Amino acid sequence: MNERINSVRAAFLAALGRATTEADLDQVRVQFLSRSGAIANFFEEMRSIPVAEKPEMGKLLNILKSDAQAAFDEKKGALSASEVSGSGPIDLSLPGRPRPVGTKHPLTQTIDDIKRIFVSMGFSVATGPEIETDYYNFGALNFPHDHPARDMQDTFFISKEILLRTHTSPVQIRTMEKQRPPVREIMPGRVYRNEAVSARSLVSFYQIEGLYVDHGVTFSDLKGTLVAFARQFYGKDVKLKFRPTFFPFTEPSADMYISCFLCKGKGCRMCKQAGWLEILGSGMVHPHVLKNVGYDTEKYTGFAFGMGIERTASLRYGVDDLRLYYENDVRFLRQF
Ligand code: DAH
Repeated sequence: MNERINSVRAAFLAALGRATTEADLDQVRVQFLSRSGAIANFFEEMRSIPVAEKPEMGKLLNILKSDAQAAFDEKKGALSASEVSGSGPIDLSLPGRPRPVGTKHPLTQTIDDIKRIFVSMGFSVATGPEIETDYYNFGALNFPHDHPARDMQDTFFISKEILLRTHTSPVQIRTMEKQRPPVREIMPGRVYRNEAVSARSLVSFYQIEGLYVDHGVTFSDLKGTLVAFARQFYGKDVKLKFRPTFFPFTEPSADMYISCFLCKGKGCRMCKQAGWLEILGSGMVHPHVLKNVGYDTEKYTGFAFGMGIERTASLRYGVDDLRLYYENDVRFLRQF
């Protein structure tokens, strides 16, 4: 009987192992655990074995019965859990499902980095409307009435007076109208120009504008601030230079250049053999501009600057076609 108990135990465990559905499980129950099943039959047989063997056999049978019931209950629990998840038994060796993680667009990253540097120097961030009036975009910024920048060729006019801003400089005017000095703001945003789209120019792009007006702001403050910015943004070892230029809203005005990172100043395709790359325009705010917002030009002076974001990002990442930023090709975007 001892041997037969062991073989029933083995047969039961094998049948339980093969069971994959509720129906299989019920068959196992009928065959082994029901009142007429194999285990119950052993208890029947107990009646006819010699009295001396009864305690020993009884003990073995009770162990068999309780082990079998426990194994059965466990299997039943596992089966119903996997049926709830609807996919059969769980395969713990399957690889996890990857969750795709997005990244910030390279232009957004560039704007964020520029903002972070100026905010650390005490600048705040301001924005203004993309649809502007002729006054904010040109007039208040000291553009003469016959200035070529007002031409239909560059500007998208909505009506005679209303247009899509061609630069972020009008936000300077809006900021100063709302606020007395000290004014220390940077102003990122989208601008529009009526130009043919090519690798080097777009009809819409981003700029970031800067403005600092207070008592006794000088050209040295301009240089110190912009040099500190360029060292942080382009690297400590970058060579810098300023070159005089003209803007209606600044006097004097200066473009800032960095040494070409590709050829280290020797001259190459990137810098058009110049060895230098222009990175921004700047200057001391023209007294006419300060007067237009009602600032006392005897008391206050200031500097301003502006840079194109696509160009800045391209210098940093070595992108040679500005259109790539707007095609949303993930093979391009994944590289940043
Ligand atoms: N608004 C100029 C442009 O679109 C850039 C610029 C130059 C902004 C000099 C300034 C500045 O604030 O001082 O080309």
